[in-house]
Amino acid sequence: MNWERNIVIKSNEELAVMRKAGRVNALALETVRKMIRPGITTAELNAAAEEVIRSYNGKPVFLGYPGPYPYPATLCISINEELVHGIPGTRRLAEGDIVSIDCGTELNGFVGDAAFTAGVGEISPQAQLLLQVTEEALYKGIEQMRPGNQTGDVSAAIQSHVEENHLHVTKLYTGHGVGRQMHEGPQVPNYGKSGKGIPLRPGMTIALEPMVLVGTSKTKVLPDQWTVVSEDGSLTAHFEHSVAVTENGSVILTLPSEP
Ligand code: MF3
Ligand code: CO
Repeated sequence: MNWERNIVIKSNEELAVMRKAGRVNALALETVRKMIRPGITTAELNAAAEEVIRSYNGKPVFLGYPGPYPYPATLCISINEELVHGIPGTRRLAEGDIVSIDCGTELNGFVGDAAFTAGVGEISPQAQLLLQVTEEALYKGIEQMRPGNQTGDVSAAIQSHVEENHLHVTKLYTGHGVGRQMHEGPQVPNYGKSGKGIPLRPGMTIALEPMVLVGTSKTKVLPDQWTVVSEDGSLTAHFEHSVAVTENGSVILTLPSEP
């Protein structure tokens, strides 16, 4: 895709619709968060998210998404060394796992896209640090989402926080504009230089998604052709929000509460 040509500025009315889509997406994610426990299958989590989305007349946007073959589920569920795009199925969560839940919802023509990573029961100190740093990196990126800044300022804020903590960002998978399409311009990598990239303007809407690995920045794709894992088998985490740039700074569109 030509990322720079695919930047779509949204009106305030469109941003209000995006908040609604983002809210339903957040409610699906919160439902799943409460179900996370040892023994539950990833298919059960997937079914619960789909039920919430459909109960609001939303549409799961990942389901059928084009790729090596159409993506087969509502959620991406990625466990431990799985970074993104894990396919839900019969696997059961186990005590000590960390699980990333990624969800996209279309409502009234607009998409909300968000993700979080959580521990299952008690997790190691290293896993706790990974989750904390990855979520903090997301918020450091969100803080930079204001007019006058550029996409490179967002990317650099994410990268520097991750690397200061001796963790690694992926270079292959990136944040992206979001709107009527799940993937629009601009592309926002989790690495970059401040002062570079695309100028941020009010009405831009971007899904920021730090994807962080403990041991390496390198990844590989499993034979199922979707699941992305760390090359060295080390733990990984992923947090994502869809965020708007406004005159007054950033506004998170994928929160569960009413605006
Ligand atoms: N949040 C991811 C993204 O922004 C998940 C989409 S993968 C899909 O690319 F194929 F399942 F849709
Ligand atoms: Co995304």
